[in-house]
Amino acid sequence: MRPLIAGNWKMHGTLAEAAALAGAVRDGAGGLPADLLVCPPFLHVAAVAAALRGSAVAVGAQDCHAAAKGAHTGDVSAAMLRDAGATHVILGHSERRTDHGETDAAVRAKAAAAAGAGLVPVVCVGETEAERLGGQAEAVVSRQLAESLPDGFAGVVAYEPVWAIGTGRTPTEADIAAIHGTIRAALAARFGAAGGTTRILYGGSMKPGNAAAILALPDVDGGLVGGASLVAADFLAIARAAG
Ligand code: PGA
Repeated sequence: MRPLIAGNWKMHGTLAEAAALAGAVRDGAGGLPADLLVCPPFLHVAAVAAALRGSAVAVGAQDCHAAAKGAHTGDVSAAMLRDAGATHVILGHSERRTDHGETDAAVRAKAAAAAGAGLVPVVCVGETEAERLGGQAEAVVSRQLAESLPDGFAGVVAYEPVWAIGTGRTPTEADIAAIHGTIRAALAARFGAAGGTTRILYGGSMKPGNAAAILALPDVDGGLVGGASLVAADFLAIARAAG
């Protein structure tokens, strides 16, 4: 299947910097062997969507609320994101799970709300270093997957080992392939044919130098890129490595 390279801009950049980065990605997006998605902070979604309108680069947010509207100070609904020009939303990123105490059940409700509003949910799972060292990685990821995905899920899954995010460290290629194979089997068992075609992204210190090897692994259908997505040339180099 055609890979997806998604950039998670996290809490970086002024409005002007976001617009400039979006423009640079747009200018380099022609003829790539992957679909591109950029996920700016909420505040910049509308401007980035406007800068990318008519291009091949999609726009997503980094979270949404599970409710359609209401008294939820500081939150943003999936419908608002859609209205602002987003087509995707990252949900259950480990930084949300840690910083905001998001549970699998909360992520599941958000994913259902996102889909209901017409957004493609990009649901993140991944073990901590202690869980990896304790031999629990597959069990943790399997539980997160089972409990974070709503019934009828038709989105994207991102496997992001927490200890690989922003650290420059990555699992071995064999370990990445093993977890992606486990995720694929679980998706196929639960969702049938749709689970077979769900894109499973790898995330965690993906860079131009390691992207080709990771993206060539079985059941790795793209990447969720943090730090390297803030430099257009690096993000585009990763997308080129998907070919
Ligand atoms: P990183 O972040 O590429 O900077 O490790 C990935 C992510 O958190 O999505």
